[in-house]
Amino acid sequence: VNKGNGVKGLADSGIQSLPDHYILPPEERLDPTKIVTEDSIPIIDVSDWNDPKVTESICKAACKWGFFQIVNHGLTLEDLDKIKDAGHRFFGLPNQERAKYWKGKSPANTVSLSTSFSPHAEAVLEWKDFLSFRYVSGDPEASALWPPVCKFQVLEYMEKAKIVIKRLLEALLKGLNVKEIDQAREYVLMGSPIINFNYYPRCPSPELAAGVGPHSDISTITVLLQDDNGGLYVRETEGDCWIHVPPVNGALVVNIGDILQILSNDRYKSIEHRAVANGNKNRISVPIFVNPAPDAVIGPLPEVLEDGEKPIYREIVFSDYFKYFFSKGHEGKKTMDCA
Ligand code: SIN
Ligand code: FE2
Repeated sequence: VNKGNGVKGLADSGIQSLPDHYILPPEERLDPTKIVTEDSIPIIDVSDWNDPKVTESICKAACKWGFFQIVNHGLTLEDLDKIKDAGHRFFGLPNQERAKYWKGKSPANTVSLSTSFSPHAEAVLEWKDFLSFRYVSGDPEASALWPPVCKFQVLEYMEKAKIVIKRLLEALLKGLNVKEIDQAREYVLMGSPIINFNYYPRCPSPELAAGVGPHSDISTITVLLQDDNGGLYVRETEGDCWIHVPPVNGALVVNIGDILQILSNDRYKSIEHRAVANGNKNRISVPIFVNPAPDAVIGPLPEVLEDGEKPIYREIVFSDYFKYFFSKGHEGKKTMDCA
């Protein structure tokens, strides 16, 4: 396992070919004949959050695709550029500066740098490094030791994104008959958000490697900013084909995570997705994982069971689910088997 400097360090060292432990067996590579171009996930204009048609489009997309993009959400192109630039600044630091934040060595338990996904459990590693921040609203102590090259931008982005996240959750929960998101509900839906910089250095032989292998997110929802390189693919709800999520200037990609699939008793779908490696450029993406608080208890909402529907899932504690997810490699939707 390449611990040292991650895939960024490997790419910078000038390697000309993909090291063996990044080479996927042929059956795990994205098969170009399985990419469909006729379909695409919806792009929803949310400039008027109060318009019932907006709520309807969001809930429909959550049922049918589990994925959609939003435009006119209130974050400006400048806001989006600033956070991507901050990510590039961090990964542009010299190896020894970045290394201070490696998981296990980081000066704070709210920030850590990792490579691949769960290197200890993976047969083949993913061509990706990521810096992960646990965001604690209104607590300057929590972010005091974050990397100075990006700390301010991450905090500012989270503050602004929180407004969009609340609107999204309100719309999605309205579709589940939940009238109001009170504090207790907020704790369950978005009690402990995490924001990542995903960094995919230019890859020799991208067709042999995984950027990120097929998985579903364990979040309530994920709000992802991607750059203009593209590379994110979503599994078709029916069939075994993959749909590209094209970069749309100014858009945010939203997907339903396992937790909201559970809360909604399967009305909303947490869909498998993957990211390919890029042979030309360094790609960055910035997901916010809108996660429950660690001790939140998750099960189908009373509102969705009102008419006597049977709960499909038993109750789980979020921190258990989280640990289970990271105890293995990316394995499609298998995390949900434990719920
Ligand atoms: C992921 O879903 O883990 C990564 C998505 C992306 O970087 O596009
Ligand atoms: Fe994901």
